[in-house]
Amino acid sequence: MTSHFTRILSIGLLYTSSALAAELGLPPVVSPDHNPTTDAKAALGARLFSDSRFSAQGDVSCASCHTPDNAFSDGPLQTSEGSAAVISSRNAPSLLNVAYNTSHERDGRTASLEAQAATPFISHSQMGLQDYTSILNIVRNEKAYRDAFYAVFSKTPAALTIDDISMALAAYERSQIAGDSAFDRWRFGGQSAALTESQQRGFEIFMNEGNCASCHSVGKDSALFTDQQFHNVGIGINALQRKVPQLSKALATAKADGEGLADVVLNDDSLSHLGRYAVDGKDSSIGAFRTPTLRNVSLSAPYMHDGSIDTLRGVVIHYNNGGVNIAGNRTSPWLSKQIKPLNLNDQQIDDLVAFMESLTSTRLITAQQ
Ligand code: HEC
Ligand code: HEC
Repeated sequence: MTSHFTRILSIGLLYTSSALAAELGLPPVVSPDHNPTTDAKAALGARLFSDSRFSAQGDVSCASCHTPDNAFSDGPLQTSEGSAAVISSRNAPSLLNVAYNTSHERDGRTASLEAQAATPFISHSQMGLQDYTSILNIVRNEKAYRDAFYAVFSKTPAALTIDDISMALAAYERSQIAGDSAFDRWRFGGQSAALTESQQRGFEIFMNEGNCASCHSVGKDSALFTDQQFHNVGIGINALQRKVPQLSKALATAKADGEGLADVVLNDDSLSHLGRYAVDGKDSSIGAFRTPTLRNVSLSAPYMHDGSIDTLRGVVIHYNNGGVNIAGNRTSPWLSKQIKPLNLNDQQIDDLVAFMESLTSTRLITAQQ
């Protein structure tokens, strides 16, 4: 009773800090103190998110690569395509449930959604602007933006900065929560018939024989399907291992030239495969990427940081082979110790795929029908 009442109250005021009870299977969303989420701020962020004028050729907005009606991804593109059709090295991740990530980008190079939001505008392979001048001109001069920014931040047009734009974008992203899947109703909602038998067997394999949950974590009261850590699972780097010393030098040179890390890794396929190493320089981080959530994963093919695997079945086969796409191919010395050949049979592979298909939010399934 009380929680229902407070929930109605808090929707009226703010989504903030600990407030809004999240969807089934997900913990509450926490906004940073300096940027509480409000309906008006998230609505302003939504408008900014889909404004393609904020790109070099006026052709690309955040929503071009993170399309709201396409689970905030740009599938079936393998890697994303920016302003003036510049192709980048990485696959655009879905932004659903991005509020729970403790670092951002596939290599975790950005600490907060607020810090991340300003970077695509000036990244060469994304929106391609030189600086923020043209964006600030638009939001300062257009009445609808001026009014909305004033209502949200109480700032006059002249006082607006890129930080205000970033805060609104971050608030919008934080409000894109999608839990309440068949799995959540089975695991956390007491509905024992919500999963098929195949999906239930798949979950057993996911937790035990497959060792998947050692990285794609499942908790007692909620499940994010990520440990927020970085691991090498054998994507991209296996074929490049002899070139790593050379790539490491090229990386150091690009950094010394003052090129931003986003441009360095997004403009070059080989440097992109270095993964977390480009951020922290540790040998153990070579080819390591942040564990992505598996929620709603059946909606965002193709998979992995380079979009190199087309289907969920292909992903499971890669793991079943011990971190290589073709059984018997060479792994690299940096492969995570948690990745080993699994010897799953065809039925078990199908069960794991069926389980991952149960992770789609009911709301998104309904929206697609
Ligand atoms: C050209 C396509 C493209 C555009 C335009 C684009 N993104 Fe992305 N976005 C990507 C790709 C690719 C990545 C992964 C980059 C990486 O891992 O290095 C990404 C990553 C992200 C992430 C990190 C998610 C996480 O936690 O890992 C966020 C947040 C994000 N984008 C938000 C935005 C916002 C906000 C905008 C508009 C200001 C935007 N993106 C514009 C392609 C795009
Ligand atoms: C050692 C940690 C680890 C283990 C164990 C692991 N994963 Fe992953 N998983 C990752 C990482 C890291 C990535 C991202 C790799 C990349 O982008 O190159 C990933 C990516 C994926 C993806 C692609 C998601 C996307 O949005 O692109 C799927 C699906 C997946 N894993 C399923 C599984 C399954 C099923 C298992 C068990 C058979 C498993 N994982 C075991 C760490 C792990």
